Amino acid sequence: MTAETGTPAAEPAASAVQAPPAKGPLPRTGIGPARPRGRQDWSSWPSYDSAVLGFRNFWYPVAWASQVARAPLGVTVCGERVVLARGKDGRVRGLHDRCPHRGVPLSLGKQEFPGTVSCPYHGWTFDLEGGRLCAVITDGPDSPVCGKVTVRSYPVEERLGLVWVWIGDPDPAPIDQQLPEELTAGDPFTLGGRIDIRGGNWRFACENGYDEGHAKYLHRTSLWRTFKTMPTWNLTHIEKHGRWIYRVQDEVHWEADFPGLGTWTNYRWWKKKPPKETFNIGNTGKAKRIDPVIAKHAFPGFASLSLPGVLRIVYPTFIHYEFYVPVNTDSHRYVGAMVNFGTGWRVAEFIAKYLGGIRWLFHGQFSGQDKWMVDVTDAPPERLYRPDVSLTTWRKLCVDSGALPQPLDVVDQKA
Ligand code: FES
Ligand SMILES: [Fe+2]
Repeated sequence: MTAETGTPAAEPAASAVQAPPAKGPLPRTGIGPARPRGRQDWSSWPSYDSAVLGFRNFWYPVAWASQVARAPLGVTVCGERVVLARGKDGRVRGLHDRCPHRGVPLSLGKQEFPGTVSCPYHGWTFDLEGGRLCAVITDGPDSPVCGKVTVRSYPVEERLGLVWVWIGDPDPAPIDQQLPEELTAGDPFTLGGRIDIRGGNWRFACENGYDEGHAKYLHRTSLWRTFKTMPTWNLTHIEKHGRWIYRVQDEVHWEADFPGLGTWTNYRWWKKKPPKETFNIGNTGKAKRIDPVIAKHAFPGFASLSLPGVLRIVYPTFIHYEFYVPVNTDSHRYVGAMVNFGTGWRVAEFIAKYLGGIRWLFHGQFSGQDKWMVDVTDAPPERLYRPDVSLTTWRKLCVDSGALPQPLDVVDQKA
C-alpha cells in the first residue's frame, strides 16, 4: 500500500511578514507557487466524492457460495462487518459480526447448535435467522439476558455462484434488478472467476476498469495479449442505455506518428495483424464468430459500467465482469468473473480453457497489472485528458442516480 495517511507533515513556521494574496493570474515563471492546474478535488460530483465506502441500498458479492458453510465466515463490505454461515435449511444468513457482550467478532465462533452462531468468548449464542440471542452457554438455560439482545441481520442471496449481501435499508430491492440482464434472461451459462482483496479505494478500481486510456498501454506487455495487437489510441464517446454507460469506439488507431519523436505501435511481427475496420466487440479486432446470446443483446460498446460498480467487457465468445466491492477506505474486494454461454461440449471446452489459461493469464497476470495501478493511484488532484470522459461520465452517472453514499462513521458503529 502506498496511500499515505496519518499525520500530515509539519508545516513550516509562519513567517513574521506575510505577502498579500496575489490578485489576477499568477506568473508562470519566477518565484512563488504556480496556480494549481487541473482538478483539485471531486466537488463536481459531491455524492461520488462522499462515497468512500460505496453506495447504500445495493447488493454486493462477497464470497463464492462454495466458501460459505456451517462454519462462520467474516467479511467486511462497505465498512460493515458481516458474519456469514449456512442455517439449518442450507441457506446463507448474515449477521453483524460483533458480539454485543464485549465486542468479539462472532465469525471467530462456531455453530454449537444448528442454525445458530456462538461467540467464542462466553458462548452467547445467536439465531442465524434474525440475530436473536437464544442461549448463553455460560449462564445456564434460564439466562435472563436471552431474548433481550439482538444483533443486526443482513439480507443475503445466492446468485451466479456468489453470496451477495444487501447493504442498506432493511427492505432490499430484488437482486435480479441489479444483476446484468443477460445473466437473468434464462440463457444457460458457465462462469469462472476469482476474488481478491486488493489495495486502493473501490472508486480507483472502478475507474480503472472503465478507463478508456490505459488498457492499450498498460496491458500491452501482458501475456494475455502476446499474440494480439493492442491499439495505440482510440476516439471514443460514451452512450447511456438504461442503467449502463457504454464506451463506443469511433476510431481505432493501431499506430501513430508523434511529431519530432517517431512512430509508436504495439504491432509486432508475431502478433495478429490489426483489422482495418472499427469494431465494438473486444479490443483487439473483429471476430469471425459472435456467440448468438451475446449477439442477441447487441451491446452498443464492449465496455460498460453500472452502479454500484459493475464492469462488463463483451468479447465475441464470452463476457468478462468485474465487481468492485468496497471493503474499507483503502481496500476493495475484486470479483472477476468470466461467463460463456456455450452449451453441450462448449461447456467442457470453456472450463478447460478457463482453468488451463484464462484464470492465470487474464484474471491473474493481466488483472494484476490493474491491481498494481489501482494500489498506487493517488487522486485528486488530477489533470484529466480526452479519454477520461469515461471517468467523468461514470462519476456523473453516480450523482444523477441519486445513490446514497455509505456514511464514513459506519466503520465505528458498535450496535
Ligand atoms: S464477548 Fe461474546 S460472549 Fe462475551
Ligand atoms: Fe486494465
